[in-house]
Amino acid sequence: MIVLGIESSCDDCSISLVEDGFKVLSLKTSSQVEAHKPFYGVVPEIASRLHAQSIDIIFRESLKEAQLRSDQIDVIAVTNRPGLVGSLTVGVSFAKGLAMSLNKPLVGIDHIKAHLYSPFLDNPTKLVKFPLLCLLVSGGHTLLAKQNSLEDIEILGTTLDDACGEAFDKVAKYYDLGFPGGPFIDKIAQEGDEDAYKFPIANTAKIKGEISLDFSFSGLKTAVIHQKEKFLKIGKEDSMKNLVASFQKTAIDSLLINLEKAIELTGIKNIVIAGGVASNSYLRKSMQSLCSRLELEYLIPPLKYCTDNGAMVGGLGYHTFLEKGGDSLNLEVSSRVSSYKYYKHVKGDLKYE
Ligand code: KG4
Ligand code: ZN
Repeated sequence: MIVLGIESSCDDCSISLVEDGFKVLSLKTSSQVEAHKPFYGVVPEIASRLHAQSIDIIFRESLKEAQLRSDQIDVIAVTNRPGLVGSLTVGVSFAKGLAMSLNKPLVGIDHIKAHLYSPFLDNPTKLVKFPLLCLLVSGGHTLLAKQNSLEDIEILGTTLDDACGEAFDKVAKYYDLGFPGGPFIDKIAQEGDEDAYKFPIANTAKIKGEISLDFSFSGLKTAVIHQKEKFLKIGKEDSMKNLVASFQKTAIDSLLINLEKAIELTGIKNIVIAGGVASNSYLRKSMQSLCSRLELEYLIPPLKYCTDNGAMVGGLGYHTFLEKGGDSLNLEVSSRVSSYKYYKHVKGDLKYE
């Protein structure tokens, strides 16, 4: 079955053709980085306009790369939640037009679940070991979840303020390092001393003794931007490379601390890491050592499937269609997903909800 995957929830317009959920036949993406660069962030109206300009070109290029005709598409899968409403609307409207003209089923896909599917692309043998513990870290989301099936996730923790990638972007914006900030910080940090500054890791538990798997990055961001001298260790050099290396270490360590707590709480040792920040080299290196220390199995997608892409939508679209069939042409877009369940666990005297 050939599924067309359309992703336009933020600033990447990406279209892919995926065979039977796993084999990526083509992946074409139009990046809008240059247009948003002057603003150091995604400008929703510019994003929607550029999606409208490029989506049919990307579609044709994707068909060409896969050496397929449009009538060979069996299902049209499109991200319809969560994301920027204007951007989502362009992708969903395009998908509806195709579904009508080709007379093929349409499937709306949750962007978060699509990211969580991304490690399985080109990797069918790995899709067997639910439940999984998932860490989704991107510019818009920071989420720790127990995944019982492709469709069923229970939230263990989320961010109380900035998303992790957003913190990278804001620090980079303040110091004029480039946009989006994550890859620039990652590169500069390679030459820095990650122990030069001792930045704080937020404690998100509201009551002493409570287990919290939530995250918080705004205090760290403020410390790095406005109070860096306060956290410089004696004898260490106050330099940009040391600053961003220490920031990166603290931000990623805070993810890994909660991941380790979640492993202890749930006993789950199969881990999936996804989203743009999953490209981070310190995170990827740290996962290797965490996994050998705790004897975990983990999956992290190749870099091309970490950031927003149509292949993860086409891949998940295949399974969603087989399980639930298509959606109606009234498919709506939504900026948020309100239907997630929260994980509940009782351990000793501590109740975690
Ligand atoms: O998943 P994604 O493409 O879009 C969203 O759904 O948000 O993620 C983009 C985010 C940006 O915040 C970007 O700075 C961050 O991922 N990012 C990174 C790296 N590469 C991308 N953050 C840290 N290190 C990286 N190497
Ligand atoms: Zn994303």
